[in-house]
Amino acid sequence: MRIFGKISSLALFSALSFANPINDVDLDARAVPASAAATLPFNINYAFTARLTLGPPPASALRNPIPLAGGSGTANGILLPSPILTGTVTGPALNATITSGFAIPAVYNTTAGTIQIPATNAYGVTDDGVELYIVQSGVGPQLGQTTRIQMSIGGGAKYARLRDGFILTALTPDADHIHITVTAYLIENSQA
Ligand SMILES: *[C@@H]1O[C@H](CO)[C@@H](O)[C@H](O)[C@H]1NC(C)=O
Ligand SMILES: *[C@@H]1O[C@H](CO)[C@@H](O)[C@H](O)[C@H]1NC(C)=O
Repeated sequence: MRIFGKISSLALFSALSFANPINDVDLDARAVPASAAATLPFNINYAFTARLTLGPPPASALRNPIPLAGGSGTANGILLPSPILTGTVTGPALNATITSGFAIPAVYNTTAGTIQIPATNAYGVTDDGVELYIVQSGVGPQLGQTTRIQMSIGGGAKYARLRDGFILTALTPDADHIHITVTAYLIENSQA
């Protein structure tokens, strides 16, 4: 197959052809220099821990799950909506109360286990009266997801780092699947 031989020799398509040794050479040539890799261009600091309490999904959504694209049944995955009832946030970067919100993860049933793509919106207010809104997205198995929070928050300079930084979060549900712990780290460009 001439055409495939040609395509697979291009570095751009190297991931498509694992058996071609030429691709390994191409990948090595593009490796990041050791000096650049050794200097981490980010500061990473613990920011806060959130404890959220979810309400149950609507009974109707459990009876008739909302299927994801590709099928009318549940085999391809479902959307599982749950209200966020309450939450508290404590930490060096943020102390706040979550007053409402909504979680609607996509739940995929795979041969490797259940994979969730969380999607959460929540609203709250800081202990000094500043409104905030968070959007959380990510991926992972049911019991340990890596996610990102994008935060919209007022409060001027005090909360600027939360507005401008990248917030990386680990999401761990309790066994009851009702209480969820979100541990958040603030990643900032140290060259900024
Ligand atoms: C997920 O897979 C398990 C094991 O194969 C099966 O028992 C269960 O019914 C599946 N759930 C859905 C929603 O398809
Ligand atoms: C949150 O509260 C803790 C404990 O009182 C305090 O150390 C921290 O500075 C507070 N964080 C903010 C951003 O106010």
